[in-house]
Amino acid sequence: MTPDEFRRYGHQLVDWIADYRESLSKRPVSQAIEPGAIKATLPTAPPEQPEPMEALIADLDRVVMPGLTHWQHKMFFGYFPANALLSGVLADLVSTGLGVIGLSWQASPALTEIEERVTDWLRQMLGLSPAWSGVIQDTASTSTLIALICARERATSYALARGGLQAEGPLAIYISSQSHSSVDKAALLAGLGRDNLRAVACDENFAMRPDALAELIEQDLAAGVIPCAIVATTGSTAVTAFDPLAPIAAIAARHNIWLHVDAAMAGSAMILPECRFMWEGIEGADSLIVNAHKWLGAPFDCSLYYVRDPEHLMRVMSTNPSFLQSSADGRVKNLRDWGIPLGRRFRALKLWFVLREQGMEALRERLRRDMANAQWLAAEVASTPNWRVLAPVHLQTVCVKHEPGGVEGEALDAHTKQWAEAINRSGRAYVTPATIDGHWMVRVSIGALPTEREDVAALWAVMREMAEAASSG
Ligand SMILES: Cc1ncc(COP(=O)(O)O)c(C=O)c1O
Repeated sequence: MTPDEFRRYGHQLVDWIADYRESLSKRPVSQAIEPGAIKATLPTAPPEQPEPMEALIADLDRVVMPGLTHWQHKMFFGYFPANALLSGVLADLVSTGLGVIGLSWQASPALTEIEERVTDWLRQMLGLSPAWSGVIQDTASTSTLIALICARERATSYALARGGLQAEGPLAIYISSQSHSSVDKAALLAGLGRDNLRAVACDENFAMRPDALAELIEQDLAAGVIPCAIVATTGSTAVTAFDPLAPIAAIAARHNIWLHVDAAMAGSAMILPECRFMWEGIEGADSLIVNAHKWLGAPFDCSLYYVRDPEHLMRVMSTNPSFLQSSADGRVKNLRDWGIPLGRRFRALKLWFVLREQGMEALRERLRRDMANAQWLAAEVASTPNWRVLAPVHLQTVCVKHEPGGVEGEALDAHTKQWAEAINRSGRAYVTPATIDGHWMVRVSIGALPTEREDVAALWAVMREMAEAASSG
């Protein structure tokens, strides 16, 4: 493809994306699709000869569209908001168009320095002290893996430079039943072993109990186990619970245990000063993650990882082969030493575009809109017979249950899944059924970019309709 052809098809595809966003509300949020149906429309062998771009573009409508759940749809209330602001979409296009890779500062100085600047902008927006240094990773899962590897190396005085984990005693990790699955996964991938994962008990609001944490640590110390890391969550996935960071950080400091805070989803809310009490004590953590690719609006993937001791991070992660050395070393950051991959996409570009194109005021207003919509829905649900809100609504997620008289236990679980699945099958809205305390509920995650109060009201009408139909069917 020549640059001129690129210009022609590029304009066409930008139009296509703009049309997609503009017409999204007229589409079903998702469509029922049989597993394997999309794959079956594709040839089993790769093309020997070039195909015209027109055919590829036509296949976006023919093949791709029917197989999508539309996360940017105003009736999308599933999982979490993964907002992709269009200014960030353009920046991602530019990033790919430039085709540069940040192996080192020297390999593209602008890539590193814009990343340094925008991660510091976001630090300020979140109300964090200048003691934090940030870097962009792909996902929270990667960031937590890095955090636990750093914790492991601090707890073992850099065992990686000696016999590795083989040489050390058991290292324990403290999480809660509400921690994200990526935390268990990171602990296992960091070589710590499931036997050494401790699930700290939660209180009635699903937040980690500091007294239970302290007790588990004492038990481990008495048994000769080394407490390595605590992973606390600011805004858990199922019900947006907030672990009390101040007392947890005090326990971590007392025993010199690494404290990692997973604020992947709820961290965005910390751009609102009125929400910052929810992570009071954050300055006592060693590392934290905030996914700008969730509620904030930078297109996936853009996970910000902040640490208080970058020297330690670099000591654990650094590699320095001769071909990557330059005369600037020592005066610049080489971000390959701040994470796992050597190559680095120009992700900072999309965050840079989004923050500048939106401005902090508009970002704050949107988040406040979503929180007010969640409070509205929670009040409607709570005041309607046979409906219940299951957990405090701190931000934008409302966890609900419809409890028709006389339906309990497994029958109630089946009823819950039935009406949630009926909503999703209808294409009128999309919600996520999930379990809490071993029973099914429905999470309504509010906060897609175009979602307004009237859309939440429309969802509430669909919820009642589907739940009634499920009870009478
Ligand atoms: C609290 C929390 N932690 C971690 C994750 C995982 O995020 P990622 O997909 O960036 O790994 C999520 C969201 O999916 C989350 O809500």
